[in-house]
Amino acid sequence: MFDFKYFTPTKVIFGKNTESKVAELVKEFGGTKLLIHYGGGSVVRSGLLKRVTDCLDAAGIGYVTLGGAVPNPHLGLVYEGIELCKKENVDFLLAVGGGSAIDSAKAIGYGLANEGDVWDFYDYKRQAKGCLPLGVILTLAATGSEMSDSSVITKEEGLVKRGYSSDYARPKFAIMNPELTMTLPDYQTACGCTDIMMHTMERYFTNGGNMEITDALAEGLLRTVKKNALTLCKNPKDYDARAEVMWAGSLAHNGLTGCGNDGGDWMTHKLEHELGGLYDVAHGAGLAAIWGTWARYVYKNCLPRFVKFALNVMEVENKGSDEEIALAGIEAMEDFYRSINMPTNLRELGVEPTEDELKLMAHKCAVGVGGQMGSARVLREEDMLNIYRASM
Ligand code: NZQ
Ligand code: ZN
Repeated sequence: MFDFKYFTPTKVIFGKNTESKVAELVKEFGGTKLLIHYGGGSVVRSGLLKRVTDCLDAAGIGYVTLGGAVPNPHLGLVYEGIELCKKENVDFLLAVGGGSAIDSAKAIGYGLANEGDVWDFYDYKRQAKGCLPLGVILTLAATGSEMSDSSVITKEEGLVKRGYSSDYARPKFAIMNPELTMTLPDYQTACGCTDIMMHTMERYFTNGGNMEITDALAEGLLRTVKKNALTLCKNPKDYDARAEVMWAGSLAHNGLTGCGNDGGDWMTHKLEHELGGLYDVAHGAGLAAIWGTWARYVYKNCLPRFVKFALNVMEVENKGSDEEIALAGIEAMEDFYRSINMPTNLRELGVEPTEDELKLMAHKCAVGVGGQMGSARVLREEDMLNIYRASM
């Protein structure tokens, strides 16, 4: 077991109609002039944005709005948001939406609290010294950005998708009403469940520092999301299933399921980020399309963990060699992806990269991770290319 830091300062307000608490929360954290940042319009169509602004109006809190954060959010809108906030003297950011709106707001927050080009942080050139305070009203259980230190932004020029993490960007509060996720298309619900599970799996498949308590939390979380994802396929309006998945999404990425280990593997995420940058695929679907190939490529180097996963999460029969059990677990996971209509290779994801594009993704991925990365197995550029090729 390794030493660890666990820092989750986000105040969570969870349950039905909790969005009505937004004004008092903004006041509690000192906001007097807000930027309300959202995505492509689902919060307008659902009436959520109107409910939020009504609440702020009634409390006498000023705000400006900026929509347009696209999935795989763009740097251009971040710059626009920074300029708008400076002009309007905004002192608090309110993201209303999924991970893309939240991440875009975090990047705007960095841009306001630091001099110079905000992209420098995503380009690993320097570290941020602060971030404007941020609150969240979550509409999609997936990324865990509502409690995480991370944000992921795509620079349009060169389609470079990069993440940056610092505790400054952890939201002050997160309003989570599972009912708000009931308007999601089934595909996005399934993408979200995939992403949630993957955040815990990235921390689970490691070669160092694993703790019994962390494993128990992780395995319980994975079983819970698996079960409730299947429930939501049949009944998208099941409140309890929505709630289980929503809370799991936060716990999967606030650090809890990584306490004591070596920091996790994260290569499936890094490989997916290149797909998201280049082809604009939904993040969760991209993860599902890559994971099985990655798992088969690395499992021999991390066999005890793959066996444990197969038995305790996928509940495969404890029969045969360790390798057979591990492979049965990978297969069972892919079956699960298919059962919630997630892809298990790039073709099913809807992209067919040329050999040159595969090489480009592998190269960008290797550069993005500083040459090599991974805990289940350390991967270099040629390994990344092998995985991309095999995932066709
Ligand atoms: O844009 P709108 O109109 O709001 O529609 C969105 C979007 O089309 C829609 N949606 C969201 N809530 C809805 C809804 N539609 C109907 N009803 C609702 N209640 O769903 C679509 C996807 O939204 P988006 O915010 O893009 O999805 P997600 O939350 O999966 O975020 C994906 C982004 O987060 C990054 C991903 O790489 C990707 O860029 N990630 C961020 C992380 C973090 N900050 O910690 C970690 C993750 O690993 C991930 O990399
Ligand atoms: Zn993710």
